[in-house]
Amino acid sequence: MASGIDIRCFIAVLLLQFKSGWPQSFHMLNRGSTYVMNEGEPLDLECEFYASEYDLFNNPLLWRKTQLEEETQINMMRNLNTPYRETKRFDVKFDQQNPHYTLTLSINSLTRQDSGNYTCEIRGPQSAVQGLVTHQVYVRVPVTSIYLGVKNITWGDEQRAIHRDSSTDTVTFKANTASFLQCAAQGGYPPPGIRIFVGRKDVTDTFKMRQTTLLTGERGLRVMEYSSHVWTDAFIARAGDDGRRLKCSVTVSGQDSLSTMTRIKVNYAPFITCYPSYAYVGETNVDIKCTVRAQPSLTDYGWIIDSNGTKVGKGEVINEYWTLLKDDDVLPGEDMLAKLYLRKVYKSSFRTYIIIAENDIAVKKQEVDLIQYDRTTPRPPPVTTTSKKDRNTGSVNRQTGFYLFGSASSVYSSYRAYYIVFLMFLYKVCFKMKFYLHFECVIRGISNK
Ligand SMILES: *[C@@H]1O[C@H](CO)[C@@H](O)[C@H](O)[C@H]1NC(C)=O
Ligand SMILES: *[C@@H]1O[C@H](CO)[C@@H](O)[C@H](O)[C@H]1NC(C)=O
Ligand SMILES: *[C@@H]1O[C@H](CO)[C@@H](O)[C@H](O)[C@H]1NC(C)=O
Repeated sequence: MASGIDIRCFIAVLLLQFKSGWPQSFHMLNRGSTYVMNEGEPLDLECEFYASEYDLFNNPLLWRKTQLEEETQINMMRNLNTPYRETKRFDVKFDQQNPHYTLTLSINSLTRQDSGNYTCEIRGPQSAVQGLVTHQVYVRVPVTSIYLGVKNITWGDEQRAIHRDSSTDTVTFKANTASFLQCAAQGGYPPPGIRIFVGRKDVTDTFKMRQTTLLTGERGLRVMEYSSHVWTDAFIARAGDDGRRLKCSVTVSGQDSLSTMTRIKVNYAPFITCYPSYAYVGETNVDIKCTVRAQPSLTDYGWIIDSNGTKVGKGEVINEYWTLLKDDDVLPGEDMLAKLYLRKVYKSSFRTYIIIAENDIAVKKQEVDLIQYDRTTPRPPPVTTTSKKDRNTGSVNRQTGFYLFGSASSVYSSYRAYYIVFLMFLYKVCFKMKFYLHFECVIRGISNK
C-alpha cells in the first residue's frame, strides 16, 4: 500500500512538469535602469531574457507602469491598451533569437506624463510571474513657482500654471527672535533639491524639508507634480544681519537652478552710544553727543535734563537747552547724531543727562555726564558709553576678560618662580645630608621584598 502511493505521487509530479511546457532553464539577462530624460526625447525600454524553451502563447509578456500607488497595464502581447494606444507614441516589439528573447517598449517622444516605473513581466502557466525587470523613468520638468519668505504658502491653481516668483524684496524679522521662514517650490521632476543661503553661508541643514506629490491628468498618463517646502520655526536674525542677502536655490537634476533672492530686514531696539562731554564754567554753546541707531525709525526721542524729569524733545528749546534734530536726520538703520545743546555752562550743569529713544521694539535710555575740566589743561579725550545688552558690550567684556587673564597669569608665573626656588633649595639640603640616597634605598628595599 505505502509503496503504491509513493509511485503515484511521483508520476503526478512528472506529468505536471511535462504539461506545463515551461523550460528547464529561464533567467533574465538585463537589470532595471534609471533614465533621467528630457521631454521630446525617444526612449527604448528593454527586457531581455534567456529561455531554453519559449512559447509566446503560453508565456504572455506584458509591461506595467506604476505612478506611485497607481498601476496600469500597458499592453497585452503586441496590443497596446488605452490610454497608451491613443497617444500613438508607444510601441511594443518582440525579438526572438532562440534562446535569447528581447521585449522592447518604445516611446518615440517623451512627455512629462511618461514618468513612472515600467516593469516588464514574463509569465508562465497559471499566470505565475517567471521573471521581471523594472526601469525607472524620470522626465525632467522645470520648477514653475518659487517663494521665499515668512508666509506659510499653499499653492493655488494660478501659481501652478505659470512661472512666478512670489517672494517680496525684503523679509522683516525682529532681532534675536525665533521666526518662521520658508522656501517653497512648485513643480519640478525628478523632485528638486533646495538650498537656502544667508549671505554666502549655506544654512539648509537647519531647515526641515517636506515634499508632496499631486497626480493630475488621466490615469496611467498622470503628471506628477511636486510641492517642496523647506522651512524652520527657529530662524534667528541679529541686528548685524540687516541688509544681508537671503537666497533660495531650487535644482532639478540636470537642469539650471532656479533661484529667488530677497534681503533681510531686522527690526531692533534703539542702540545708543554716548560720548561724555567736557566743559568749563562759563563755556557757551556746549553740546553732549550720542549716536542712535534704530529700525524701525524712532517714534520718540528726547533728553531728560534735570531731576524733575524735564524733557527736551526733538527740535525743542527749553530754557537754555535745545536739540537740533529734524525728521530728515532720522533714517531707519542708520547712525543718527543726537545732540543736546547748552547755551551756557554753569556750576550746576555738571550732572547726568538722560537720552531716551523709542521705537516699536523698545524704549532705551542712556545716561551721559557733562564733566567739568580746568580751562588751563587740554580737554580730555572722550570716552564712549553704550546702551546695555547690545553688540558693543561684547568688546567691553572682552577687555575685562583680558585684564583678568593678564593678572591671573602674572600671579601664576610668580608662584611658579617661588616654587622652583623652593625645589632647588630642598634638593640642595637633601643632597648634602644624604637624605636623598637614603630615601631611595628604603624604597628599593620595600619593593624588592
Ligand atoms: C519607482 O520605484 C521606486 C523604488 O521602489 C520608488 O521609490 C519610486 O517612488 C517609484 N516611482 C514612482 C513614480 O512610482
Ligand atoms: C503650514 O501649512 C501647512 C498646510 O497648510 C500646515 O500643515 C503646517 O502645519 C503649516 N506650518 C506652520 C509652521 O504653520
Ligand atoms: C523742580 O521743580 C521745582 C518746582 O517746580 C522747582 O522749584 C525746582 O527748581 C526744579 N528743579 C530743577 C532742578 O529744575
